[in-house]
Amino acid sequence: MYDVHSVREDFPVLKNVIYLDNAATTQTPVPAVRAMEEYFFRYAGNHGRGAHRLARETTDHYEDARESVAHFLKTDAKRTVFTGNATESINIVSRGFPWEDGDHVVVTLVEHHSNLLPWMRLKDEGVNITIVRPDITGVVDPEDVRSAINDRTRLIAVNHISNVFGSRQDITKIIRSAHREDVRVLVDGSQSAGHVPLDINSMDPDFFATPGHKGLLGPQGTGILYIKEPDMIEPMFVGGGMVRSVTDSCYEAEPCPAKFEAGTPNMPGVIGLGRAVEYVRNIGVDMIEKHELSLARDAASRLAGIDGVEVYGPRDRASVVSFNVKGMNAHDVAMILDQTKKICVRSGYHCAIPGIDLLGVDGTVRASFALYNTQEEVDILVETVSNIASLVA
Ligand SMILES: Cc1ncc(COP(=O)(O)O)c(C=O)c1O
Repeated sequence: MYDVHSVREDFPVLKNVIYLDNAATTQTPVPAVRAMEEYFFRYAGNHGRGAHRLARETTDHYEDARESVAHFLKTDAKRTVFTGNATESINIVSRGFPWEDGDHVVVTLVEHHSNLLPWMRLKDEGVNITIVRPDITGVVDPEDVRSAINDRTRLIAVNHISNVFGSRQDITKIIRSAHREDVRVLVDGSQSAGHVPLDINSMDPDFFATPGHKGLLGPQGTGILYIKEPDMIEPMFVGGGMVRSVTDSCYEAEPCPAKFEAGTPNMPGVIGLGRAVEYVRNIGVDMIEKHELSLARDAASRLAGIDGVEVYGPRDRASVVSFNVKGMNAHDVAMILDQTKKICVRSGYHCAIPGIDLLGVDGTVRASFALYNTQEEVDILVETVSNIASLVA
């Protein structure tokens, strides 16, 4: 039995608010915060840079976190790179890939800007881009992605779960058909890691990017990049920490993951992330998914039943519910939710303007759920939205 009330004890901030902005960032559980506190108060040193005990202890904890994350994502620590966020992870790939003039990339219209702009910017290097349209619920047809491939296509970049619609893409199908054409795939797992069971080995993307601060419950300033064949891309940053030997004319990089982690990394953040991932693993992603889906789907169907409320996304949504109250600006709705019931939701374009444009609206209100949300919170959300809608009816 999933005991959400005991889970909530690990997130003290939830005593003060109804937090439904989990697609933006989640709260971090006490054991992960304690792990960071322990770093600061007991052994803070630099990673991989010293023989003394604090440097060694820091390195051990940092590398243990890598093992935990890799184990959780069902992949290999040697291919698991720590970054500052998903945006950085994606830019490392777009900047490091060996592009040639005339190469082609396929993305979709339902991407977060962080998985769109890094590819759009490649136009400056002669790389062409095709943007595949999803249906009106934010679902991309894998067949449309496949037929966008041409003989210069090198890479497909696609979200696993949309941060606007809560739609899930058929990643397995997209990857299989891309690989048959020798095309690489980057999966933006920002809204899936920690929310749905993941097995990177069997999913088989070439790159998988996710922040640490969403479903994985880690602190802000952490991100992950899985790279299947690390020699395929050049590091975006060079300098200390990523180099094996240097002469006055050249250098030899360390192998992955160090190759992609130049400079002093976010040691406390990564150590906190490692502990947060253990926390998620102990509860079980299957349990978490079941709990979140029951809340999100209940919220979506009850909100859709309110006169004057429009809900977007597919029926079999993930834990994201975007909606609007007709006749009201999304920001005003969000502000009233906060001021009347301390309900924290996101409003606006969610860093996904082209996806929102598909809906022909000026943004949406977005409620997004995590393992610590409750049925009572859904009830309060639905009741408050119903009251707001009755104001404009
Ligand atoms: C689907 C998706 N991709 C990328 C990002 C960017 O994540 P970050 O801000 O950690 O770089 C987000 C953040 O909301 C997202 O939802």
